[in-house]
Amino acid sequence: MIYSKVVGIGSFVPEKILTNEELCNIVDTSDEWITSRTGIKERRIAEDGLTTSDIAAAAAKKAIKISGLNPQDIELILVGTVTPDMIFPSTSCIVQNKLGLKNAAAFDISAGCSGFIYSLSVADSFIKSGKYKNVLVIGADLLSRITDYADRSTCVLFGDGGGAVVLTANAENNRGILSTHMHSEGGHNETLMLKAGGSLMPASIISVNNGEHYIKMKGAELFKYAVNYLRDVAEEAMESNNFKPEDIDLFVPHQANVRIIEATAKKLRFPMKKVFVNVEKYGNTSSGSIPIALDEAYSSGRIKESSVVLIDAIGAGLTWASSIIRW
Ligand code: UT7
Repeated sequence: MIYSKVVGIGSFVPEKILTNEELCNIVDTSDEWITSRTGIKERRIAEDGLTTSDIAAAAAKKAIKISGLNPQDIELILVGTVTPDMIFPSTSCIVQNKLGLKNAAAFDISAGCSGFIYSLSVADSFIKSGKYKNVLVIGADLLSRITDYADRSTCVLFGDGGGAVVLTANAENNRGILSTHMHSEGGHNETLMLKAGGSLMPASIISVNNGEHYIKMKGAELFKYAVNYLRDVAEEAMESNNFKPEDIDLFVPHQANVRIIEATAKKLRFPMKKVFVNVEKYGNTSSGSIPIALDEAYSSGRIKESSVVLIDAIGAGLTWASSIIRW
């Protein structure tokens, strides 16, 4: 049996911090409301000119360095993102060029905030099939570019950032990605969407004036889907590996809202000390959320060699997904 082992990890967030207090000068909100409803205290905002591919390339460079691989050994680059640099070419091709990964095929995966786990799943399938040995998987988003800073129901939630892992084919028994699980429900697509800029509503003066190039979210509806689907997909991952909650060393959920994280952890019977939370620092960074959290958990020693890590996420589509990794 071939496993996809994580041999390198890295992340990157822009330097500029936007605090709750600063947001109070932009929209009618308060630190108290944002903190109590979401757990978020601040988020990172990219400076003008910085692109998703810059964030992705910076994270990937660190991951490749840690992996010790020759960059020319990377055979596939996958970028999970909903904020590509442009509609085409893909952000992964731009990353390939920025990092000089000449021998890699490259494509993007659009699965909202589940983009990183979807990409991980695709990478794992390629590795398990024997098609590729070394795959670079990135999750990166620059949500501040598509956030309406006049809409207090969304602008307090989102931030910019990304992370990356290098996966390598590994025959050592039971080390690497143990399983991945993906779901989608297109019928719930209006819960979270950005309508304009595609074939449905090409960019026009009308689409810009109507604010259709910004994220639109039905927050309360999404909250209910999130707590149920995130529990279901985490249970599915544990059941498929015959694991109980006590077999998981660390649960790294999508960082959208600390209330969703706590409710999911409670349903799954995980004490919060087994749950990784950094939403207070970055807000929701979409596809960047899980790999940034994994990188921080790894760098701070909460993930070690052989740690069993459960990840799950939900996002636009709707999509939701999970994976269990033995590090
Ligand atoms: O990655 C997946 C993407 N997103 C998510 O998972 C997000 C899921 N949803 C959520 O996290 C929560 O639903 C939110 C944080 C978005 C909203 O929290 P909520 O407790 O569901 O609040 P609500 O939308 O029901 O709004 C409650 C009140 C409303 O006022 P009224 O109608 O009760 O008078 C809102 O207008 O809070 C008001 N409100 C605000 N007040 C101050 C909404 N946003 C704000 C704000 N500051 N920023």
